[in-house]
Amino acid sequence: MASFVTLLLLLFLPIQPDLSMANITISSSLTTNGNMWSSPSGDFAFGFRQLGNSNLFLLSIWFNKIPARTIVWQANGNNPLPRGSKVELTASNLVLMDPKGLPIWQANPATTVISAAMLDTGNFVLEGNDSRTYIWETFKNPTDTILPTQILDLGSKLFSRLTETNYSKGRFELNFSNGSLNLNPIAWPSEFPYNFYYSSRTYNENPSESGHQLVFNESANIYIVKMKGEIAQFPRWGGINYTVDNYYRATLGFDGVFTQYSHPKHSTTSQGWLPLQSIPINMCTAIFSDIGSGPCGFNSYCSIQENRQPTYDCPPGYVFLDPNNRLGGCKPTFPQGCGLDDGLRDPVELYELRQFDNVDWPLNDYERLAPYNQTECEKSCLHDCSCAVAIFDGSQCWKKRLPLSNGRYRRTGFSRILFKVRKEVPAGYCNIRSEKEKPVLLPALLGSSAFLNVILLVVTFLILFRRRERKVKKEGSDPSISGSTLRSFTYKELEEATNGFMEVLGRGSFGIVYKGILKSSSRNVIAVKKLDRLAQEREREFRTEVNAIGKTHHKNLVRLLGYCYEGSHRLLIYEFMSNGTLANFLFTLPRPDWHRRIKIALGIARGLLYLHEECDFPIIHCDIKPQNILLDDSPTARISDFGLAKLLLSSQTRTHTMIRGTRGYVAPEWFKNVPVTAKVDVYSFGVLLLEIICCRRSVVMDLEESEDEKAILTDWAYDCYVGGRIHLLVDNDKVAMDDRERLKKWVEISLWCIEEEPSKRPTMKMVIEMLEGFLDVPLLQPRFPFSSSGENQSQW
Ligand SMILES: *[C@@H]1O[C@H](CO)[C@@H](O)[C@H](O)[C@H]1NC(C)=O
Ligand SMILES: *[C@@H]1O[C@H](CO)[C@@H](O)[C@H](O)[C@H]1NC(C)=O
Ligand SMILES: *[C@@H]1O[C@H](CO)[C@@H](O)[C@H](O)[C@H]1NC(C)=O
Ligand SMILES: *[C@@H]1O[C@H](CO)[C@@H](O)[C@H](O)[C@H]1NC(C)=O
Ligand SMILES: *[C@@H]1O[C@H](CO)[C@@H](O)[C@H](O)[C@H]1NC(C)=O
Ligand SMILES: *[C@@H]1O[C@H](CO)[C@@H](O)[C@H](O)[C@H]1NC(C)=O
Ligand SMILES: *[C@@H]1O[C@H](CO)[C@@H](O)[C@H](O)[C@H]1NC(C)=O
Ligand SMILES: *[C@@H]1O[C@H](CO)[C@@H](O)[C@H](O)[C@H]1NC(C)=O
Repeated sequence: MASFVTLLLLLFLPIQPDLSMANITISSSLTTNGNMWSSPSGDFAFGFRQLGNSNLFLLSIWFNKIPARTIVWQANGNNPLPRGSKVELTASNLVLMDPKGLPIWQANPATTVISAAMLDTGNFVLEGNDSRTYIWETFKNPTDTILPTQILDLGSKLFSRLTETNYSKGRFELNFSNGSLNLNPIAWPSEFPYNFYYSSRTYNENPSESGHQLVFNESANIYIVKMKGEIAQFPRWGGINYTVDNYYRATLGFDGVFTQYSHPKHSTTSQGWLPLQSIPINMCTAIFSDIGSGPCGFNSYCSIQENRQPTYDCPPGYVFLDPNNRLGGCKPTFPQGCGLDDGLRDPVELYELRQFDNVDWPLNDYERLAPYNQTECEKSCLHDCSCAVAIFDGSQCWKKRLPLSNGRYRRTGFSRILFKVRKEVPAGYCNIRSEKEKPVLLPALLGSSAFLNVILLVVTFLILFRRRERKVKKEGSDPSISGSTLRSFTYKELEEATNGFMEVLGRGSFGIVYKGILKSSSRNVIAVKKLDRLAQEREREFRTEVNAIGKTHHKNLVRLLGYCYEGSHRLLIYEFMSNGTLANFLFTLPRPDWHRRIKIALGIARGLLYLHEECDFPIIHCDIKPQNILLDDSPTARISDFGLAKLLLSSQTRTHTMIRGTRGYVAPEWFKNVPVTAKVDVYSFGVLLLEIICCRRSVVMDLEESEDEKAILTDWAYDCYVGGRIHLLVDNDKVAMDDRERLKKWVEISLWCIEEEPSKRPTMKMVIEMLEGFLDVPLLQPRFPFSSSGENQSQW
């Protein structure tokens, strides 16, 4: 009978305290040893939570039945505590103490405490001797999250955390103080609020008409109640399809978006928190202010994903200040302006303007020149130490200086956004070189073939060694981040599609590729790449990289269809290429037709040009070789495996040298302590072009002694070219010989591409123009592709 009454009470007075659950008694305590106070249903728990892999702990409340164990409240985000810390309930307080017993945080209830309870709503309460109200509760002292049945009174605030994993006070707050729910950016790290970027506009001079409470009701609706009882919904927020099978929460994200989420209580898939609705609708355009950095950090830009959550990126030539905090802004990878060492050098030598359209930094103009043509505009920016970006709209030229603020994705129509960057592409798109581990190989040694062989062996060794050295670190997935333009597959789906990973298509440098068939899709044959070593363990980074790859669309690239991120499984799903690899096509007898080879070479060059210069996020491939070029059914050449280099490098491994690429195709600068640029791909393309011309591999080891000079294709091609014996390269192939003009020209282009000095190599754009015959190949200067050593040059 008593429990029936309790049940009735629960049904009809859900927000009233229920003393039967208040079973945490005075002088109970918890330490960092993993104990917790859980709610009767077990849905929520109160206790210490370890922060990532650190040895720091947060006193918090979390959803205890879902794998993400999402934290909904915490006491000491600004001051995580080490192992040995303790929280204790005393008759006067709830106190959090560090290992020395110093109080770090306390609840400070109004009167004497009788007991405490972790309720099934997620509210942790302290009770006094008055059973009608709680004397303190986490629902009235929220951090960044509110839960169903929680009501915020006037004067309440939510603070965003700094990043997804750093619970320090962040850059945004929700202020429900003056009748309206306002979202404000904060002049971080102070607490000074800038003007709001969202307001519910429910303030009224007449108090009874003004907003009075922010309610997250039991059926998961969030609204503002006015003093006289009237309800105000947020614009464009509808009722949600409430079900008791879901958990709900609403969180002021570290990105400033206040979002309501749901999560299935009993989930068989690894689907995480699903965003239901957010304010503001478009965070990227919500903030626009002349002080502060805007919706994202300085020098970065914001774009809205399909699920309406913002994402942040750096423009070309810039990297995140803190790779773990994408909201923290970007910095150029090169000295801005006219540095000391730049003194006498021509800026045109040092800088170039890279076009980067559809992103706008609406402020920061300091000069407008008109009428001006693009050449004049670029020149003016190049020679101006303050100029970081030039915008050219046909007749006018605006110049902008750093720091850039309020960056956002926007169709900029005809306007060209020209970014001044240092000429070499900053390291980071594909490889970050070590400062500590200086290369041991002298570039001059690269001149001799014998040495080259030794080096190739060393490279192979290094590659194997490095690959083995990297370990896949385990880290819990964070399903609260979702959304992608690509399809997310479950592991089970892929297991079914590949029939238990039966048919192996190939073994690439990143893992094994399997063939699969999707029943539910029209483009149903797929290639599933199981990534075996991965540094971007964090789901967010993984998705960002995968999304960047997903944004590439070009007829000479293999299209990424989706991915799977589940437990320790990381898989990428590509369209299936029916005609195998270029290696299989080229290195078989009889030789494939010359004109077909020409078409393929052009296709690869176009794909590379797109990756380097035409896509949103320039990508250096770093591993161009015939095994990574696939042929579709036409057969058209399609580059695969691009963009993966970055996936395999986490911020932690940045200090390690890692030589990417495959022997025979790696550019010499991999051995030097210089930034790796897109020119490494040009080098590899040069080698590949020779292979396409000659239909042989770049390195052939098991040759007869008399044919020794042929072992290294680049050396041999060079010798043949210099000696006027080009016909040997195509083995007297009649069709190719009839096309002699092109043959000679293409050999010249390849040799130019494998110039030792990266800056002397052509860009892919020039390569295309030369291959297509629109640009003449300049006379090869007396030089040897591999060295500056004198003896070979004497042949000239
Ligand atoms: C309080 O009681 C509930 C069941 O009534 C139990 O699940 C929970 O563990 C108890 N908490 C403590 C701290 O004893
Ligand atoms: C509650 O405690 C206060 C002292 O803390 C006391 O004055 C009051 O009488 C108590 N009320 C009840 C209902 O026990
Ligand atoms: C969170 O970020 C702040 C500010 O950058 C930093 O001082 C603090 O150490 C970070 N906390 C953790 C746990 O990483
Ligand atoms: C409350 O908001 C209104 C309208 O936004 C404003 O006019 C008024 O000054 C504010 N009052 C306080 C105390 O901030
Ligand atoms: C919250 O809003 C109130 C009323 O508009 C204002 O007085 C107060 O300064 C705001 N607080 C913060 C921290 O923004
Ligand atoms: C929650 O709010 C919605 C919208 O105002 C309303 O339809 C629903 O009945 C409310 N649910 C409860 C349990 O009060
Ligand atoms: C709720 O469910 C109905 C029917 O399944 C659907 O039509 C509607 O769009 C859903 N509403 C929301 C807000 O998801
Ligand atoms: C741009 O203007 C300069 C000087 O007025 C002129 O020399 C140049 O030819 C123009 N370039 C183009 C592409 O119109």
